[in-house]
Amino acid sequence: MTRQRLVVFSGAGVSAESGLRTFRDSDGLWEEHRIEDVATPEAWRRDPATVLRFYDMRREQVLAARPNAAHRAIADLEDRFHVEVVTQNIDDLHERAGSTRVLHLHGEILKVRSTAEPTLITRLNGTSLRLGDRCALGSQLRPHIVWFGEEVPEMQRAAALISKADVLVVVGTSLQVYPAAGLIHYLPRTAEMFVVDPKDPQVGVQGAHHWKQKASEGLPALALHLRKRISDR
Ligand code: OAD
Repeated sequence: MTRQRLVVFSGAGVSAESGLRTFRDSDGLWEEHRIEDVATPEAWRRDPATVLRFYDMRREQVLAARPNAAHRAIADLEDRFHVEVVTQNIDDLHERAGSTRVLHLHGEILKVRSTAEPTLITRLNGTSLRLGDRCALGSQLRPHIVWFGEEVPEMQRAAALISKADVLVVVGTSLQVYPAAGLIHYLPRTAEMFVVDPKDPQVGVQGAHHWKQKASEGLPALALHLRKRISDR
């Protein structure tokens, strides 16, 4: 029997219990930092040192964090489903938990890229990126992050994955940032959507099954439910 295609669309909430702060909750990162100062191409042009410092902190925290039960439950689903993870997160916790197909919509904090040639992407040596660190072409390296106002190069690939899904699991995202948030609308009408989030879902996910729990509890429970359905068939 062919495996069901399951897409997990994750946001900061899936990594919250690994100690990485979300963006828009009451203790969120955007409470402490202004997007315009650290996460836009204009900020990078105006004050690259501040931008680099902000992402150095994010990198340090990611390196110190460990995957939690939600990341692990998602990775384990690969034994029964064809799983694709589409994440807005820049951490590598899905990969470290064992997920083999992970698409990062907003970039990856452990990677850097050339400011002259965006396809020149490498893993950062060490933990901090400095002014004067250059790519093979001799231009300044920047964090491999999609900033506000920049194109999201992986959108088409993500939309194609979701448009072929049988099941979509949306976990830990406020669905406030576009174009990423619009991806849920690519889900076929015949497919099912589950939302795992302790807060009530956005208007766009009406009709979805809401598991009003934290990711580390909700995801293992949902995984159990999905597995059981398969074995009951
Ligand atoms: P947000 O901070 O906007 O939303 C986090 C979501 O996670 C909220 O819906 C919370 O209720 C939920 N949440 C909090 N704790 C949770 C837990 N333990 N388990 C499950 N859910 C929990 O984060 P995102 O939606 O990921 O982009 O933000 C989207 C984008 O905005 C990010 O990728 C980033 C940010 O600006 C860029 O930097 C380009």
